[in-house]
Amino acid sequence: MNSPPFGIIVSSQKGGVGKTTITSNLAVALQQEGYSILIIDADYTNPAIAFHLGLPSTGSKKLMDYKRGTKLKNILQVHQPTGVHVITARHSGRPAALLPSAINVYKAVMIGDYDFIIVDTPPGFFPVAVWKYFGRRLPNIYAFIVTVPFLPSYASASKLAKLYDSVHIKHGLVVNRIKGKRFEQSVGDIVSTVGDELAAQLPEDDAVEIGVSEHIPAYLLQRRAPFSRGIARLAQRCIQISGRSGAGKVQEGRRGSWLRELFKRLFGG
Ligand SMILES: Nc1ncnc2c1ncn2[C@@H]1O[C@H](COP(=O)(O)OP(=O)(O)O)[C@@H](O)[C@H]1O
Ligand SMILES: [Mg+2]
Repeated sequence: MNSPPFGIIVSSQKGGVGKTTITSNLAVALQQEGYSILIIDADYTNPAIAFHLGLPSTGSKKLMDYKRGTKLKNILQVHQPTGVHVITARHSGRPAALLPSAINVYKAVMIGDYDFIIVDTPPGFFPVAVWKYFGRRLPNIYAFIVTVPFLPSYASASKLAKLYDSVHIKHGLVVNRIKGKRFEQSVGDIVSTVGDELAAQLPEDDAVEIGVSEHIPAYLLQRRAPFSRGIARLAQRCIQISGRSGAGKVQEGRRGSWLRELFKRLFGG
């Protein structure tokens, strides 16, 4: 029997720090390593996974439509270039309504066949509220706290770290958009201010914006770009944390097929 999926929460106290970018790139990087991946977009304030991956945002069922008994396959979308499964979200002013569907989905997918479930979250404490509900039953979970190297962002990251501690969720810091400027706070200082372990550092990189505008994750578009290399290291870190090294099921033909799909989308044919 397969072990249950490993859950990765991508979170931050502030918006616009790169959660959705990291979620979509990390998902395709892990899928390329042969793992099966489900993304859940739980950001009801600014659902953007569909946009980042070029999935249709209308006409499909969303996380909010999940009720007890809903068949998982009826709310899934497949990212055709890679085979990553995605549950998208729509904007909602009623976060309380989302909580049961998030919990039900998670229960449903726990018996699913995924190696990793990666959850994109709204800024703030929402993930703590969700996972508090059934945290004890989910030992296989890790939260990334994303920050940029500016004081307002990383100062607030330490609040999130403390909250994760209070619900016994392991966590690590991802410092994104590092420019290497002289005035920039060093990663070492940020880590010691927040008091969290460093999970990854990711550079500021134009490849990200190009990818977002093309609806293709930078990792697929420019594999050698500095950001993509950082994502590759983050993916390795996830494999390490999850204890799943060597568990990736490389499926025949998958590695080549995303490239073919990409060419089809870019150049037609
Ligand atoms: N490492 C990076 N280099 C350059 N641009 C980035 C980087 N990370 C994120 N961005 C850009 O910042 C913006 C916000 O990122 P996003 O992933 O939507 O943040 P969040 O999900 O935390 O709100 C996007 O336009 C994205 O392209
Ligand atoms: Mg986002």
